[in-house]
Amino acid sequence: MPKKSLLMWDETLFRDPDVFEIDYIPDQFNYRENQMRELSFLLRPGLKGGRPLNAIIKGTPGTGKTTSVRKIFSDLDDIDSMMVPVQVNCQIENTRFSILSEIYKKLTGHGPSAAGNSFKRVFESIAQSMIEQNRVVVVALDDANYLMVENELNKILYILLRSHEAYPGTRVGVIVIISDMEVDLSREIDSRVRSVFSPTEIYFPPYAEAEIFNILRERVLQGFYPGVLPDDMLRIITAHTMAAGDLRVGIDMLKRSALNAEMAAEREISREHIREAYKVSKYVHLQYSLKSLSTEEKDLIKLIAKASKADEQLTTGDLFEVAKKDLKIGYTSFYEMVQKLDSLRLLNLQFKEGRGRTRLINLRYDPDKILLYL
Ligand SMILES: Nc1ncnc2c1ncn2[C@@H]1O[C@H](COP(=O)(O)OP(=O)(O)O)[C@@H](O)[C@H]1O
Ligand SMILES: [Mg+2]
Repeated sequence: MPKKSLLMWDETLFRDPDVFEIDYIPDQFNYRENQMRELSFLLRPGLKGGRPLNAIIKGTPGTGKTTSVRKIFSDLDDIDSMMVPVQVNCQIENTRFSILSEIYKKLTGHGPSAAGNSFKRVFESIAQSMIEQNRVVVVALDDANYLMVENELNKILYILLRSHEAYPGTRVGVIVIISDMEVDLSREIDSRVRSVFSPTEIYFPPYAEAEIFNILRERVLQGFYPGVLPDDMLRIITAHTMAAGDLRVGIDMLKRSALNAEMAAEREISREHIREAYKVSKYVHLQYSLKSLSTEEKDLIKLIAKASKADEQLTTGDLFEVAKKDLKIGYTSFYEMVQKLDSLRLLNLQFKEGRGRTRLINLRYDPDKILLYL
């Protein structure tokens, strides 16, 4: 029997709650030494003012891609070199203008004036600043699959990688980070970009069960007071994390299980607290994707979720009829949004024989859950 002791109202199981936050950078970061060494090697020419080699980082969500790059970039920030690293979260910055603004900000310490400014002008200022300060830039486009709508990825790569043509003396390296394993970048990239890109691919494989266990245990030791989560309970969380295939699910489960235990005024996390936590944590990926949508895209997936509940096989043709009426959108933007939802793995689009451009639409999540998290 787990010992049940009442907690004082202000008592907590968390020694350091930050350890379970999504943007926390762990001190202990194992199992990615090879990938980080390879990436550092590619960037090395930039230290002395040469052009860093380009890279593609590929791996499913929660395999440490973002954190690895952040760690290397923060090391670069700490040393005195000629290379300025800029990591851009493309879920948020998903246009040329906003990506270039991030680079500009990093170089100059302040944002470009927004009024009447174009991406061309911002890039001109970036180039000028690179030449004046004698700096090279390495840009990591994190979660770059968000740029695949409206060909934005090609456009930004073109600007960055051909900068030396428009502004001789400028040198830019690019790291493209992709979480969607089905994306074939070589097919997404057009020939004008391909001739200057030629990236080295670095693969981040999913963690093995023992690795997940050790990573999570590290957090437990740092984040909880001793005895809060026994190893046999951590094994259950590890198994769930393995099944979900995303380390974020495990970290989220640690936090929620402990909150559940606190709520029940217990000092130790039990099987039941974990079971309750999993019901919510298994949707972290869904929540993570929904958060990144625009209002219009949210309205559309809401429409799809409602229509899916009414059953019948949903097709793009039928859905467009509804979307046109309810959301007042044209076919082009409708189809682009549907494709984006597909690339985010929120739904699945399938060809249908003999129906022209119409596709079958299947949601990848329970429509009720989608409506709930919206
Ligand atoms: N090797 C590791 N050691 C410790 N924590 C890790 C490790 N790999 C990933 N994490 C943690 O897992 C979460 C997801 O990692 P992240 O780098 O965002 O993955 P990705 O960018 O591949 O989706 C983050 O909270 C991160 O701190
Ligand atoms: Mg990431």
